[in-house]
Amino acid sequence: MTRKHLLSSADLSRDEVEAILDTAASMHDIQRREVKKIPTLRGRTVINLFFEDSTRTRSSFEIAGKWMSADTINITGKGSSTSKGESLRDTVKTICAMAVDALVIRHSASGACHQVAQWVDASVINAGDGTHEHPTQALLDAYTLRQRLGSLDGRHVVIVGDLAHSRVFRSNVITLGRLGARVTVVAPPTLMPSGIGDWSKRDGFATSWDLDQTLYAVSPDERPDAVMMLRVQRERMSGGFFPTEREYTAGYGLTRERLARLYAATPDLPILHPGPMNRGLEIAAEAADATSSAILDQVSAGVAVRMAVLYHLLAGETEAAA
Ligand code: NCD
Repeated sequence: MTRKHLLSSADLSRDEVEAILDTAASMHDIQRREVKKIPTLRGRTVINLFFEDSTRTRSSFEIAGKWMSADTINITGKGSSTSKGESLRDTVKTICAMAVDALVIRHSASGACHQVAQWVDASVINAGDGTHEHPTQALLDAYTLRQRLGSLDGRHVVIVGDLAHSRVFRSNVITLGRLGARVTVVAPPTLMPSGIGDWSKRDGFATSWDLDQTLYAVSPDERPDAVMMLRVQRERMSGGFFPTEREYTAGYGLTRERLARLYAATPDLPILHPGPMNRGLEIAAEAADATSSAILDQVSAGVAVRMAVLYHLLAGETEAAA
């Protein structure tokens, strides 16, 4: 694979997604070793430039780089000169003047990573841009689902929650679609993204306002093979998108009651959530901690998948040429 940037999930063909997931499986084996160090990125420098808060994504990119022997440095918006008024362009050009090989960027503006890729020579990896995309999250979700379900061809994944503000949902629809999965997204009308009508033209893609009807479909073919809950992103909400939290949970939360009914049909149903979770709002503790919950598997896969992405962008070509 000779790709320089990972800006959008749409960049990746099915073959490329599968190549990354296969590499991630090898990386996952390394992760289980006592000594987790491989020399693949020795002498390469990876900068994590995060203008929005993050626990999982930032630390997993840092661990991924370190286990591959790259020099990794974290820069956050708050601690950088952007807080003194420096522009994004000046900040990334300054960092790249130090001859870095890759910039992993999270930014509140949709499209920021595409813009940065035009300004610098380094590889740019989108670690979440506004409400637009989060391609490595979709890859780690696909990896986790593949671990649980095997091939995703024809599988039905239901994604529920604050779609309007979710870059995770946007990237997942693309990546899961590449792997042949069917995706139904469920949200209250106020949290359906504008433009969802265009999305609905995709093969195997459906939308619904009715969670119960989607979860307990009468036909076995329509029942979910996995359920992914999304966080209610209060920090991106300027007004009221639902009357009360209690009503949101009643309509769209994965409650203990809903879980019990799902388990009656499919006891090992994988439950995913990208984190961070609002326990008690979009997901009950019983669901988050259920035996079939894949939430911590997603976190574990996050390191392996990001190692695989760094490998394909920074080392793949060199190794193939060597
Ligand atoms: C997601 C994000 O930042 O887009 N989290 C993550 O990367 N694990 C989802 C969210 O913040 O709700």
